[in-house]
Amino acid sequence: MAAGLGTRMKSDMAKVLHRVAGRPMVHWVVGAAKAAGATKVVAILGHQYEAVRASLERAFGADVVAALQPEQRGTGHAIQCALPAVAEEPDDRIVVILTGDAPLLLPERITALVEACAASASGLALLSTVPDRPMPYGRLVRDDRGALAKIVEHSDATPEQRAIRDTNAGFYAVRLGDLRKDLLTLRADNAKGELYLTDLVAQAYARGGAVAIDAPFAEVTGINDRVDLAQVETAARRRINEHWMREGVTMIDPASTFIDADVGPLGKDVILGANVALRGKTTLGDKVRIDHGAVLTDASIAPETLVKPYSVISEASVGERVEIGPFTHCRPGTRVDEDARLGNFVETKKTHVMAGAKANHLAYLGDASIGQKSNIGAGTITCNYDGFQKHKTTIEAGAFIGSDSQLVAPVTVGREAYVASGTTVTKDVPRGALALTRVKQVNVEGWAERFREANGKRNKKPGEGE
Ligand code: UD1
Ligand code: CA
Repeated sequence: MAAGLGTRMKSDMAKVLHRVAGRPMVHWVVGAAKAAGATKVVAILGHQYEAVRASLERAFGADVVAALQPEQRGTGHAIQCALPAVAEEPDDRIVVILTGDAPLLLPERITALVEACAASASGLALLSTVPDRPMPYGRLVRDDRGALAKIVEHSDATPEQRAIRDTNAGFYAVRLGDLRKDLLTLRADNAKGELYLTDLVAQAYARGGAVAIDAPFAEVTGINDRVDLAQVETAARRRINEHWMREGVTMIDPASTFIDADVGPLGKDVILGANVALRGKTTLGDKVRIDHGAVLTDASIAPETLVKPYSVISEASVGERVEIGPFTHCRPGTRVDEDARLGNFVETKKTHVMAGAKANHLAYLGDASIGQKSNIGAGTITCNYDGFQKHKTTIEAGAFIGSDSQLVAPVTVGREAYVASGTTVTKDVPRGALALTRVKQVNVEGWAERFREANGKRNKKPGEGE
């Protein structure tokens, strides 16, 4: 169920598309259902139907079908809107009903619900929870033998009923045949004037009573505003970090390590410094070390590579035993092969840095191919853009680019050629050649002395002021 607007988020975006650890919250719920073995997932959508549907389609393809709930007339009405999507399914199928705004629910909990439903006479199982703070949840009302008689919604509850600690978490497993019949009996004769799905519990009482399984509040808690969102984010991150630590990743400071839900695999003996963020679909090989403050998005890093502090790597793939950083920026389309080095203030974009190549300081390498074991001096710039088009720079294996050179693309520097410091390369440099565009240096003897005299500053050295 994900048709609601989420008014309290105060957002232009549907609540269920807000992200928890980088993944829209409704994707967490669908992911848990699939991990628990769901063969078909129906997403009940209303507000921003198209945006939510498209987001689910991108992540899950045809595995999720959308059902439209045109107006939100309650959770019972939401399920009525989903019935046509399961019209072909037999009555003995078990349907799981999940809330789209509770991303921390574990697949094991869904499995337990399904098993309890299958074993029950009533054909209904639900998750109950004891909130750690007052919540406007439905209360579980039991008869004197302890059987679950009904759920009373918070807004319809008497003060005595509100004192009941067991509440409805909003997750159910129900036999489809019973669901089909019971949904027909729902009436909106309640405080909210809605069709309450929770009225199914009173129907199940006649069949022996619904089964309630207790779940920790932290796992089933829903997100209603951005305070809830931040709390769930923290809990999700802790869960993700603990998973990776158990898989053999060292974290210097788990509390400041930010790993998105879709990151992985991360290899054995990976070390993550504090304030590291791994985003998107980043993967790390064995013994990779990512040092303090680095941010990696959709990056794939091969074993034994070292990323030094404050480097930013996005949509890039990096080979084995590479050293990157500190303060390196690898932008989309960067590929770095094994044993290469990129040092401080080097920026790459759509560039292939081949094995053993080095660009240790201050360079911009865009739309370029940097040959094996070539050496890129400090201050080298590929001038790849003429204001209209991007052009390619090719530096062949073993070439040496002296400091402060500009390579005006399209241009090729041949194998083992040299580019002298300060050269502006506008023509291809043949293999083994030296390119040099320097104006000859002139030394004027005694000039400095004469200059100072002329300015009457004999007794002062430069920089000493007036
Ligand atoms: C519901 C339960 C309540 C339970 C609480 C737990 C009912 C009547 N009450 O409360 O017992 O304690 O969840 O969170 O079911 N939705 C739709 N269409 C609608 C209405 C809701 O898709 O017409 C979706 C919402 O987007 C949300 C979920 O259903 O994902 C729960 O809706 P919400 O309004 O938060 O729950 P309540 O009805 O207040
Ligand atoms: Ca809610």
